Amino acid sequence: MAKRTIKAVLGGEACFPPPIWLMRQAGRYLPEYRALREQAGSFLELCYTPDFAVEATLQPIRRFGFDGAILFSDILLVPDALGHAVRFEEGKGPLLAPLAPADIARLEAGDSFDRRLAPVYETVARLRAALPGSTTLIGFCGAPWTVATYMIAGQGTADQMPARLFAHREPQALTRLLTLLADRSADHLCRQLDAGADAVQIFESWAGVLDQADFDRFCLDPVRRLVARLRERHPQALVIGFPKGAGTHFGRYRQATGVNALGLDWTVGLDQAAELQAAGPVQGNLDPLRLVAGGRALTDGVSRLLDSLAGGPFIFNLGHGIQPETPIAHVEAMLSQIRGAERR
Ligand code: CP3
Repeated sequence: MAKRTIKAVLGGEACFPPPIWLMRQAGRYLPEYRALREQAGSFLELCYTPDFAVEATLQPIRRFGFDGAILFSDILLVPDALGHAVRFEEGKGPLLAPLAPADIARLEAGDSFDRRLAPVYETVARLRAALPGSTTLIGFCGAPWTVATYMIAGQGTADQMPARLFAHREPQALTRLLTLLADRSADHLCRQLDAGADAVQIFESWAGVLDQADFDRFCLDPVRRLVARLRERHPQALVIGFPKGAGTHFGRYRQATGVNALGLDWTVGLDQAAELQAAGPVQGNLDPLRLVAGGRALTDGVSRLLDSLAGGPFIFNLGHGIQPETPIAHVEAMLSQIRGAERR
């Protein structure tokens, strides 16, 4: 049996027990993160200061020994570095100036991108040097559509109405924005791989709000462009696509975009997950609220996932980010259950 690494699974191997990391594993459920965040003063300061970002990335690795370390950063650093400034206010999430079609030309002409993001690549290089070889270092970006939804609304929303309306009213402006984001995001991922990231994940948190025609045009096409541009410079890049809420489109998403592995949200049924796994590695998809609840809700969810997927190429993860209210004891219990699992 191969050594239990995320890299090996992304290459198509089955490892038992499966390797594990958690989306948002560095974050507010950890007291040491809350202390670091206070020290840094602001969330963006955490992201743009290598000393802080390295420490935040390593905190959950030290505590839990996860098999993957995800770079501490945010998907909204890309618009910020493009010149569309982002702020994070306590309790409010991200705030940006709502984007108008006339703003796009200015973003295309900007030249601050590489300079603004240089500290992120330094963080990646320092992390690769600090981590053991068996811990996969995961870089990331947001998918163009998901990043665009925040730029257009200027904030988080429940259903991305502003961006969906923009898609219908200004499809050409949106396509132009998505093209810019696809190209710059590919460059951003290339630089992370250059600096030592072992794999990258593309977060498409809002794949589930578009009809099929617009899903193809505004989710699939830009991610296909992004992955193609990435592979021009890194043909062997290991890429995880996480199109949250893609429902019946997951298989097509992998085929059309060329990502190696699919991150599945918790609404994907285990039969569908097993079918998707027959075509390549899958990652996921425990409901994050099972981890909040603990007890039988947690042990049953974990057992079902292991029974259905751990015989093939599988990375254990949640179906979305860990909730801030998650008890640390529940994370520990989940890890013991997975690591102590017997092959069936
Ligand atoms: O541990 C990790 O996963 C690495 C770091 C990471 C963060 N955000 C840190 C973060 C990653 C991979 C992300 C991805 C991200 N950021 C996504 C895609 C995944 C998802 O959750 O759907 C999105 C949509 C964003 C944008 C974003 N960042 C929002 C909407 C918010 C506010 C909501 C919230 O949870 O507070 C953030 C803030 C953010 N990003 C925090 C962290 C740890 C909390 C900031 C804080 O400390 O106050």
